[in-house]
Amino acid sequence: METRQKLAARVADIAPFHVMEVQTAARALEAEGRTVVHMEIGEPDFPTPQPVLDAAQRAIAGGRFYYTSALGIPELRRALSRHYADHYGVDVAPERIVVTAGSSAALLLVLALLVNRDDAILMADPNYPCNRHFVRTLEGEPRGVAVGPSTNYQLSADLIARHWSPQVRGALIASPSNPTGTTVPHDEMARIVDAVAERGGRLIVDEIYLGLSYDGPPRSALALSDDLFVISSFSKYFNMTGWRLGWIVAPERHVRDLEKLAQNLYISPPTLSQRAALACFAPETLAVLEERRRAFMARRDFLVPALRELGFGIPVMPSGGFFVYADCSRWSADSEAFCRDVLAHTGVAFTPGIDFGTHRAQAHVRFAYTIEMAKLEDGVARLRAYLN
Ligand SMILES: Cc1ncc(COP(=O)(O)O)c(C=O)c1O
Repeated sequence: METRQKLAARVADIAPFHVMEVQTAARALEAEGRTVVHMEIGEPDFPTPQPVLDAAQRAIAGGRFYYTSALGIPELRRALSRHYADHYGVDVAPERIVVTAGSSAALLLVLALLVNRDDAILMADPNYPCNRHFVRTLEGEPRGVAVGPSTNYQLSADLIARHWSPQVRGALIASPSNPTGTTVPHDEMARIVDAVAERGGRLIVDEIYLGLSYDGPPRSALALSDDLFVISSFSKYFNMTGWRLGWIVAPERHVRDLEKLAQNLYISPPTLSQRAALACFAPETLAVLEERRRAFMARRDFLVPALRELGFGIPVMPSGGFFVYADCSRWSADSEAFCRDVLAHTGVAFTPGIDFGTHRAQAHVRFAYTIEMAKLEDGVARLRAYLN
């Protein structure tokens, strides 16, 4: 007789990515010989820049792939420090930078540092899905706060004040955000820093999409305070998703504890990736990345008006990253069914809102512009033919 072994309760609370179901359905269509326009994929289509690949080849030739410090190699921490000075005009000592195995590990380390059982973390709903699962894994309470166009689909100081309670330990914000691509204005971020500090809480700002900002020079929350945690990554702006490399900028007094956690949870970030990433800051790499940022911006400038013209509700222009969060309630009150139906009829794949939270999730879908312009145009033409 089969005995069902008991698993930890947290496992049942972790939802799978619905986008994977979209991808499975899309692949089935491709297997039948249909072409699919993939607007569900949350990673840059651009390959890792050549100078980074060259640096990796040189590193491989040199051998020596031992563990590094759990904090990352000093050269990379220094390079990131210079990048903050050159790109964002902020002074961040290398000693405050912890290189991690993707920003996923960065989020996990910072939350492991801060969250006790039953502590609540405020986050926007909709929001990047893993955040609530990280908090749940740590036996904390992810507390989603319904957001909409009036606050750029982001937490605001007012919302934080309204939703604060004795259980709340802090707030987690991604700016620009996944799934909405919207940014917290710098003056509002200043008010948020104060609102959280006044309540004795901690602020975590995920700036993974900050390098991909389109409406003026990007401003890091690090310009506002040294007493917050900024999370970032080589995945998106630097086109290095599979290299699994990210970082934390932490208040200096917490670096030792983050180091301890990293040592125990995964020993060190990947050695080859760190050596390769040193080439990210060479002028020729930055030139390529800047050209790609402009390509993303051109895609946004095409896609958002085109979707609006079709009848999707996009009240706030996304200002960064590569996502558009669109209201589809004009056609359907069930965005999962809508995604399935549109994929089956048009071969255009995108993600239902349910992946990102519960607040009006069935009225929304997320489009990713991680494909070249000609494919975006094809996708919009297919949608136009079907939806009109
Ligand atoms: C907002 C946000 N944060 C963090 C991550 C994790 O990325 P990585 O672990 O590749 O750095 C993602 C990935 O999609 C994301 O969208």
